[in-house]
Amino acid sequence: MNADFQSWARDCQSRLETFLESQLAKTDREPARLHSAMRYSVLGGGKRVRPLFSFAAGALNGADAERITVVGAAVELIHAYSLVHDDMPCMDDDVLRRGKPTCHVEYDEATALLTGDSLQSLSFQLLAEHQVADSAQVQLAMIKQLAQASGSRGMAGGQAVDLDSVGKALTLPELEFMHIHKTGALIRAAVMLGAQCGNRLNEEQLTQLDHFSKCVGLAFQVVDDVLDSEATTATLGKTAGKDADNDKPTYVSILGVNQARELAESLRRDAFQSLESFGDAAARLRQVTDFIIQREF
Ligand code: IPE
Ligand code: IPE
Ligand code: MG
Ligand code: MG
Ligand code: MG
Repeated sequence: MNADFQSWARDCQSRLETFLESQLAKTDREPARLHSAMRYSVLGGGKRVRPLFSFAAGALNGADAERITVVGAAVELIHAYSLVHDDMPCMDDDVLRRGKPTCHVEYDEATALLTGDSLQSLSFQLLAEHQVADSAQVQLAMIKQLAQASGSRGMAGGQAVDLDSVGKALTLPELEFMHIHKTGALIRAAVMLGAQCGNRLNEEQLTQLDHFSKCVGLAFQVVDDVLDSEATTATLGKTAGKDADNDKPTYVSILGVNQARELAESLRRDAFQSLESFGDAAARLRQVTDFIIQREF
């Protein structure tokens, strides 16, 4: 990763974290235990990849950094909620997340459930109370997009398919459907919402950006599957080998590690192709894409 990208990413992450910190209730506010669990699950960890995609998409059309920070925070809160629930015993039953005990281990299951619920509500609250677009109409459309990406036709739906697939040998199209929903939908929302914070893109540009975001969303989960089987728990900050232990169909279980890595590479090429007409304005989007493909955790 070049130094320019690293310093840009650090700047975005720090804007995001300062904002998230200011919007999460303090732990002296009742109910203190719930507020403490919410802060525990959001702050101090995580690559913040989805907000980086929002910032990078905003760079296409001169979007205001404050608006993108709100959008990035809204997406990151949905992501954090999805992780808290994903780790619960009724789902993946994991004890380690971002190098720390998972929320239900550090607190308790009921608190983890409510933490996820409350993070989701906070996400939509932020998107409703801060101005992120020039018109109220565009802003409402953005709120709707995030709702769709999070719900049964998006992330939560993909999670349902994931749980229903345990012990099954899915076909490649079925696996792709699952990954595009459980992980791709939110990454796609991060890109598309970031782009809508700035000057309007034309229909053709929006279509290209949408295709880009579908490719990177899928690539992200393909790499997550590879890392689960190849990396160590210490590097990942979450339990390695969990997919095999839980008998989950993944790109690794179906294609093997080498072909899964090749698929990630071909999705990267496809993603880059759809950015061609944006020229240099898409430089950040290319860098964030490289970052997710090459990441080690
Ligand atoms: C992990 O996401 C869960 C998936 C959707 C694959 P990340 O790898 O973005 O997790 P953090 O936010 O960096 O911890
Ligand atoms: C998680 O997929 C997807 C969501 C949380 C929506 P995984 O179950 O593979 O994520 P990790 O590996 O636990 O982070
Ligand atoms: Mg899972
Ligand atoms: Mg999991
Ligand atoms: Mg995983």
